[in-house]
Amino acid sequence: MHNSEKAAVILAAGEGKRMKTQSAKALCQVLFRPILEWVLDNCSQAGIEQKNICVVVGKSAQEVCEILPDGVQTALQEQRLGTGHAVMCARDFLQRHRGEDILVALGDAPFLFPELLQSAWQEHHAHKNAATVITAQVENAHGYGRILREEDGTGLLGIVEERDASEQQRAIREINSGTYWFDCDALLQALERLSPANAQGEYYLTDTLSVLRSMGCRVGAWQAPDPRCVLGANTRGELAGLNETARRLVFDRLYEAGVDIPITDGVIIDPRAEIGIQTMILPGTVIKGKTTVGAACTIGPNSWLEDAVIGDGCTVKATYITRSELKERVSIGPFSQVRPDCVIGQDVKIGDFVEIKNSVIGSGTHASHLTYIGDTDCGERVNFGCGVAVANYNGRQKFRSVIGDDCFIGCNTNLVSPVKLGNGAYTAAGSTVTVDVPGDAICVARSREVILPQRAKKYRKDKK
Ligand code: UD1
Ligand code: MG
Repeated sequence: MHNSEKAAVILAAGEGKRMKTQSAKALCQVLFRPILEWVLDNCSQAGIEQKNICVVVGKSAQEVCEILPDGVQTALQEQRLGTGHAVMCARDFLQRHRGEDILVALGDAPFLFPELLQSAWQEHHAHKNAATVITAQVENAHGYGRILREEDGTGLLGIVEERDASEQQRAIREINSGTYWFDCDALLQALERLSPANAQGEYYLTDTLSVLRSMGCRVGAWQAPDPRCVLGANTRGELAGLNETARRLVFDRLYEAGVDIPITDGVIIDPRAEIGIQTMILPGTVIKGKTTVGAACTIGPNSWLEDAVIGDGCTVKATYITRSELKERVSIGPFSQVRPDCVIGQDVKIGDFVEIKNSVIGSGTHASHLTYIGDTDCGERVNFGCGVAVANYNGRQKFRSVIGDDCFIGCNTNLVSPVKLGNGAYTAAGSTVTVDVPGDAICVARSREVILPQRAKKYRKDKK
């Protein structure tokens, strides 16, 4: 494919009346991402440059524009008069792309993946079509436009919307995905001839096919092999259905890649996640954003990874990790949290109820229980006893502390930042450390015990 010859118009002006959303329908999310972002990714991965993509906006135009990547063009559809009218609103854009192939895609159908767009494009070219619609055979065609073919089932006659269809036409199971390749000049001509004489009083983009046919142009259809891929959503129920479909599509891809998800209950994985072979994902695990997980890890149960980078051989149990990196063989959890901007070194062991934020933890360090480490540069092979807290905040400002290699931080130590512990320094259990501790020194910062023999008896109720 030649990049310079392709452009796309994405229809995202719709109000989502049936969705009952206050913003644009294209902003409704599937696996935590607006559907429009899925569609934009599909287009750019199919080789269409961002400057050659035009999104038609209308309802909540401002909000929609905010999620568009740099370079993507927009056209405004002030009144929603149908999908054909929406494309007419991009006329100036189309004029600039005369002689090119135009993909028209809907902002409410996320799974028309780049491979599918490319296969349809090949079909479009092979037959020198003026328009090629992507279709699929589905179980339940309710709500979709039906594909009308010639008696012998080959040639394409056109598309009829459900509301305009006869009983007989409604029985057809081949549906319109709403995504098409057009010859730009033919599309511009067909748009001139659309009429709103139909059940909804709208300019239907679907009518361009019969219009082109009547103009003597070739029109065709390319059927997607996996019918799940053409699904769109018009209602909240259908949106939930798309989430379920998306989950399955992602699992299928991961199974192919050698990832083990033995029980998928509560597992949600962003399509952009990359996961290595022999990694096991356990129930209740959510992997969000652009997360990378290495090979042979065990993630879950009940873990949350968001924009995280996890090295090979890590174990993450019932733990939240956000915008942070774990190097190889880190073990963490259960019930811990790694907040943004942490780098956790190789072979680190983080146990239960440990929170780490904006810190670097050197390799081989252990923090096994009940510890807070914030704004800290921690060396290698450090041991944090139970209940250590880095006091990094004085109510107004945050401060950083530095802990050298091979330090031993006794139980219930408070490190009042900013402090520096040299390599090999120890702190005694229960110490509150407010000054720097030289390497290999022990800091004891607690008062001596006072033992009062027999005194306990005085306080006892029975005085014995
Ligand atoms: C449309 C198709 C139908 C197809 C289905 C696939 C038409 C007439 N019908 O029906 O054949 O099977 O999609 O999901 O095209 N939009 C605008 N401006 C408008 C109207 C719509 O931008 O004036 C946008 C919407 O934001 C949406 C998309 O176009 O992203 C489709 O609109 P929608 O109302 O959902 O069309 P369907 O009834 O689903
Ligand atoms: Mg729709």
